[in-house]
Amino acid sequence: MASQGSLACVGVGMMLGAHLSPRARGHLDDAEVVFTLLSDALVELWVQQLRPDATSLQPFYDESQREGQSRRDSYRGMVDAILAPVRAGKRVCAVFYGHPGVFASVPHRAIAEARAAGFEAGMEPGISAEDCLYADLGIDPGSVGCQHYEASQFMFYQRRIEPSAYLVLWQVGIAGDRTLRRFATGPAYRRLLVERLCRDYPPEHRVIAYEAATLPIVAPRAEGMALSALVEADLRLETTLVVPPAMPMQRDDAMLARVAQLDRAAGDAAATAFFRTSQGEVDV
Ligand SMILES: C[S@@+](CC[C@H](N)C(=O)[O-])C[C@H]1O[C@@H](n2cnc3c(N)ncnc32)[C@H](O)[C@@H]1O
Repeated sequence: MASQGSLACVGVGMMLGAHLSPRARGHLDDAEVVFTLLSDALVELWVQQLRPDATSLQPFYDESQREGQSRRDSYRGMVDAILAPVRAGKRVCAVFYGHPGVFASVPHRAIAEARAAGFEAGMEPGISAEDCLYADLGIDPGSVGCQHYEASQFMFYQRRIEPSAYLVLWQVGIAGDRTLRRFATGPAYRRLLVERLCRDYPPEHRVIAYEAATLPIVAPRAEGMALSALVEADLRLETTLVVPPAMPMQRDDAMLARVAQLDRAAGDAAATAFFRTSQGEVDV
């Protein structure tokens, strides 16, 4: 039987006090029970001011680190903690930094489990690190395309890189971690990441270590460096790696010819297709 319990997973964005949407704020204000999982202690304090009764989920991470457990155990603990009051009939709001659905498994799992148990559950988007990246670095993912991968997954599986598009690697500070226990991996792991990237890019290709500002008084980090310099670079838990395109897009002449044939068949005498290349718009 359907119960009154409900769950809203909301994002507060990246910057303290600056990115909270009215809808996310509404859920935060209306909830009977609030949980938080935020990027740093200051952001946590800010949300605690809005909801002094909020419970931080951070201790699940701290405990698993103390016990040497996998992050999977902390995630399971967090989902169970969020769902307990939902099952008890409460309106629950779980607050995450950035966008709750971007490279974050707990909100997705909690919502799926709540729905499977018959409760109303949904997600309220927030401004993610990706959104800030486009704004701070002046990148339009639609200009030449953009691939996103979690850095370790990118290393462990055979993925096809398209070097005429942007490549964004998340969690690069823990690239190569198979244990799900570490909060940093070192140069030996990064060397393997660089080796993998060098299959598609020259070692001197310029890449960017990016960190969005989480406080209004702090500037974002956008540190350019050669790909090979990543091995010794200062890469943290909050660093995202941006690899700009290394070559222009290659025209697919066969496809263009077939499209032109369709245009002719449609009798559109004025049909002139435009498509973008990294050099600009091209008339075909
Ligand atoms: C578990 S994901 C969480 C992402 C978050 N849900 C969002 O919407 O951006 C953690 C990864 O997000 C990226 N990230 C987190 N904080 C960041 C920041 N201040 N600047 C750039 N990237 C950040 C890093 O790649 C980090 O390893």
